[in-house]
Amino acid sequence: MKPRRSVLAVPGSSQKMIAKAKGLPVDAVFLDLEDAVAPDAKAGARANIVAALNEPGWGEQLRVVRVNDWTTEWTYADVISVVDGAGSVIDAILLPKVTDAGQVRALDLLLTQLEKSAGLEVGRIGIEPQIENALGLRNIDEIATASPRVQTLVFGPADFMASINMRTLTVGEQPEGYDVGDAYHHILMTILLTARAHGLQAIDGPYLAVRDVDGFRRAAARTAALGFDGKWVLHPAQIDAANEIFSPRQADYDKAEDILAAYAFHTSTAGGARGAVMLGDEMIDEASAKMAQVIADKGRAAGLTRTTNGRIGL
Ligand code: GLV
Ligand code: MG
Repeated sequence: MKPRRSVLAVPGSSQKMIAKAKGLPVDAVFLDLEDAVAPDAKAGARANIVAALNEPGWGEQLRVVRVNDWTTEWTYADVISVVDGAGSVIDAILLPKVTDAGQVRALDLLLTQLEKSAGLEVGRIGIEPQIENALGLRNIDEIATASPRVQTLVFGPADFMASINMRTLTVGEQPEGYDVGDAYHHILMTILLTARAHGLQAIDGPYLAVRDVDGFRRAAARTAALGFDGKWVLHPAQIDAANEIFSPRQADYDKAEDILAAYAFHTSTAGGARGAVMLGDEMIDEASAKMAQVIADKGRAAGLTRTTNGRIGL
């Protein structure tokens, strides 16, 4: 799957912001029809998004559209408008406030009909369920496996905090009065474990204090350390930080490639067909190679190249 280290949120109602997004160095852009767009501007935003997606000038970014959730009156028309108008260049639909598998299946069925009627490849457009309420988290396994189109699980911290009555208004920071750990740990780990159990990407949501780049870095570093694949960015100032934080550090990437090379050599017949070997001061085995593979894959996808000389010795 293509990396999604930085996922730029862009209001579908702003032609200016969509035009600017095209040139930004993010892995994915999502054009929003949901909470960043006022009810009276929804219809206009659909038309904007279709026009913008069909214009030339897009880079390598994944192009995603966030539709409104199924409890509103807008979802079906959002999906029909954008897929009829620009289905061949949409990589995925981001489905917010998902509560159960039925909502993912409903979107899957609608997408299938639209793809068939437009002569598009059936199943190419992905689904990105957004986990942003208590019910969605309780049903996350069935949501993750509801359709082969599901590619990622996306945390929606603002709606989630509201849904569980968490006592803070600052998204991404700890609620005052809770000083014994990370109040989001259970939610983040549930999303991450489910993503890993089903081969999906885990994406962290927004950090709203857009001018506080240090705060963004702190929040992003926490979820990157857990194993998340990327995070939303709301402002150009957050982009470089996200791309850097969700890529492996050069030293870790080099070490991962060293481990893989050493492991491949020493487990081969030419290298003695051994299972566990020493690399520098550390013993490495099959499990070390698996961990190294994850970092190497992420580094390669981020365009890193090895700066060590390929030592494979004991
Ligand atoms: C994003 O949609 C959020 O609710 O945080
Ligand atoms: Mg939300």
